[in-house]
Amino acid sequence: MKMYNRKLERGELEGRLSKAGQSHLLQFWDEISGQEQEELMLDLADMDFKEVGSFFQKAMETSDSIRQEKVDSRMGPVPREVLGSVTRDRECLRDWEKEGLRCIAQNKVAVLLLAGGQGTRLGVSYPKGMYDVGLPSHKTLFQIQAERILKLERLAKQQYNAKCCIPWYIMTSGRTMESTEEFFSRHNFFGLDKDNVIFFQQGMLPAMDFSGKIILEDKGKLSMAPDGNGGLYRALGTQKIIDDMEKRGISYIHVYCVDNILVKVADPTFIGFCVLKGADCGAKVVEKTNPTEAVGVVCKVDGCYQVVEYSEITLETAQRRSPDGRLMFNAGNVANHFFSLPFLRDIVNIHEPKLHHHVAQKKIPYVDTQGQIIKPDKPNGIKMEKFVFDIFQFAKTFVVYEVLREDEFSPLKNADSQDGKDNPTTARHALMSLHHRWVLNAGGHFIDENGTRVPAIPRSGPAGSVTPDATRNLKDGTDLPIKCEISPLVSYGGEGLDVLVRGREFRPTLVIDETGIHELVKNGL
Ligand code: UTP
Repeated sequence: MKMYNRKLERGELEGRLSKAGQSHLLQFWDEISGQEQEELMLDLADMDFKEVGSFFQKAMETSDSIRQEKVDSRMGPVPREVLGSVTRDRECLRDWEKEGLRCIAQNKVAVLLLAGGQGTRLGVSYPKGMYDVGLPSHKTLFQIQAERILKLERLAKQQYNAKCCIPWYIMTSGRTMESTEEFFSRHNFFGLDKDNVIFFQQGMLPAMDFSGKIILEDKGKLSMAPDGNGGLYRALGTQKIIDDMEKRGISYIHVYCVDNILVKVADPTFIGFCVLKGADCGAKVVEKTNPTEAVGVVCKVDGCYQVVEYSEITLETAQRRSPDGRLMFNAGNVANHFFSLPFLRDIVNIHEPKLHHHVAQKKIPYVDTQGQIIKPDKPNGIKMEKFVFDIFQFAKTFVVYEVLREDEFSPLKNADSQDGKDNPTTARHALMSLHHRWVLNAGGHFIDENGTRVPAIPRSGPAGSVTPDATRNLKDGTDLPIKCEISPLVSYGGEGLDVLVRGREFRPTLVIDETGIHELVKNGL
């Protein structure tokens, strides 16, 4: 939105609002306090009504056409030649990782965290990254990610004998900026150099009713929401982040979401794969195995890469299979991307204005004409959002990197009281299950309270690895994983554990951190 530096006089503002069809926003002017008047005036003065109106028009038109049209006939799957896979290209993984670590050691890699969402479904009043899912260490998502960055810097240094840093760009929104910064500062940036943690804010847009009227959430307050994780591209320009990356000599950027507890921040293997393929844009995916799973898939539409949502295709297409038996459209998007800096620069400078907003119909609390605050029970308006993956279409060399869901993807979306999917419990279990497997693969074992070895039920895993049944440590009849947590400062991806665990037996809760190996039997959580 354009910024106006001067306060508009009330009359001038009334004129602008009337012209924009938004006069209702001043309906309660005489009932609100002086300070509320001041704040409302500033919010309205900042708003470019013409632009907001055109976003609304375009978003509604596009969403209507998407609702009507299925894209099945124009879709093609990801060709094998642009695909790298941790299961199908095992012989290449070491070279890819080496290349990624080399780029990190040369200070060419930055990570960019999308943390501007409102976390409505999780329902906490603070930013999602500050959430503690209840691990033995009680580390928050932010701390886990920070420690993974620190560990990678150390690994790159060890391997290439060069002190290096991975700048961490953190996108917040008007609602999360202050608390996020304060949290990092209170925790001393989790050991990172604070000059290499760069916060910036994405834009906000007003929520609107279906006729394009901006919604008032209170008599003197507009209903505002962040403009989607694709708001990134505009913010990269307005907040001068691209310039900062250029100044630091960054060539490659790994973009990811705050809510995935398993995220391999700055994953060297993914980065190395993309770099060696000469890609300007890459997407990490997990295999979609169930045709009706509501996950977007990366595919080609009319020859260009994009993410197609489950609702945009017919069941018949969702069920189609390749000769190898896998779903034909199985590249499940996990919002985890690689970009080269020149590509990002072009997106910001050239393509961003061409991206349209998607429409999300929502139940938006509002003030009715009588001044009552109403919480609607069905959608009464829309929020407009751009998506981070909307730019795939502009890539010249696009690649896809397939990883295992159980190793890399467990998002925190819902509160525990909800439907049991993607919540704090599933996130905690996913992390502990992964770390349990790391210990087994490094030659360690677990014993129960009677000293009996807990058998690992092997399953044919990708790298000949052991995949235990993670939910067999039964207690009170409930399925619980083995409680095991390994600090990212000890191991980034399962490496380096042999010397610590080989041939040893552990009684859960097992915690391995920089201070040593701890069996929290008595204080077990
Ligand atoms: P989601 O779309 O899951 O949204 O975001 P959310 O805010 O976390 O949760 P709900 O939908 O309100 O319950 C996926 C990722 O995109 C980021 C989020 O912070 C998360 O990392 N995001 C989302 C932004 O950075 N900005 C936005 O405007 C929206």
